[in-house]
Amino acid sequence: MKLITVNDYEELSRLAAEYIKAQLLLKANSNLGLATGMTPMGMYENLVKMYQNGEVSFKEATTFNLDEFLGISPSSPVSYYSYMMENLFNHIDIKKENINIPLSNPENEEKACNEYENKVVKKGIDLQILGIGTNGHIGFNEPGEELNDKTHVTNLKEETIKQNEKLLVERGEESAYHIPKRALTMGMGTILKADKIILLANGSNKKEIVSKMLHHNINTNLPATFLKLHKDVTVILDKESSPF
Ligand code: GLP
Repeated sequence: MKLITVNDYEELSRLAAEYIKAQLLLKANSNLGLATGMTPMGMYENLVKMYQNGEVSFKEATTFNLDEFLGISPSSPVSYYSYMMENLFNHIDIKKENINIPLSNPENEEKACNEYENKVVKKGIDLQILGIGTNGHIGFNEPGEELNDKTHVTNLKEETIKQNEKLLVERGEESAYHIPKRALTMGMGTILKADKIILLANGSNKKEIVSKMLHHNINTNLPATFLKLHKDVTVILDKESSPF
């Protein structure tokens, strides 16, 4: 893992956006793996600015989101679909048909998982952006006795639900909306198939888990440790989240 520590969230957001821009300049039809959460909001803001300044285009790009809640409509303010539209897709020139976000209300969940898995693997992700949960989850791969390597349905931990409640408030939505208890997520195996991975973490509340990820051996109780198996992971931290 390559570690980069920057001064603050602004710098982290700019640098992460620069990595995506560089990827698209290198290969306009890149397949990008995208994450939600509070962490990448600044990165998306920078990408929108870069697009508006004519520095980057998403016209040929394809995106795959890591995860989505289950049991809600995609148009629900809670959904990651809404998050992605609000924060990125409504403001750039990406083609609608090139946006991939797991379904939030599939008729057949198992079929939806298999189809998403096959699509991601067939296309192949050039650059995957990740955040990290305070419990070490990646996407919605929650800590536990075992991890599912492929796209699957998962039960969310209480801590993860709380973390996402904060995100909802940050996005200006009423906290009256309930965060679903189940979600659909790429598996750790799906994620590790990406060519390059960038993990972002900021703020003092991430310091402990970042330290554990770096210092612990690979184990399913800390899914982020599995990133050590990948040959090209860059971790971008701000000073507050850096354990060094
Ligand atoms: C969420 C998402 C993850 C995200 C993580 C960190 O629950 N499913 O994809 O990376 O938790 O969230 P945040 O950036 O808000 O700390």
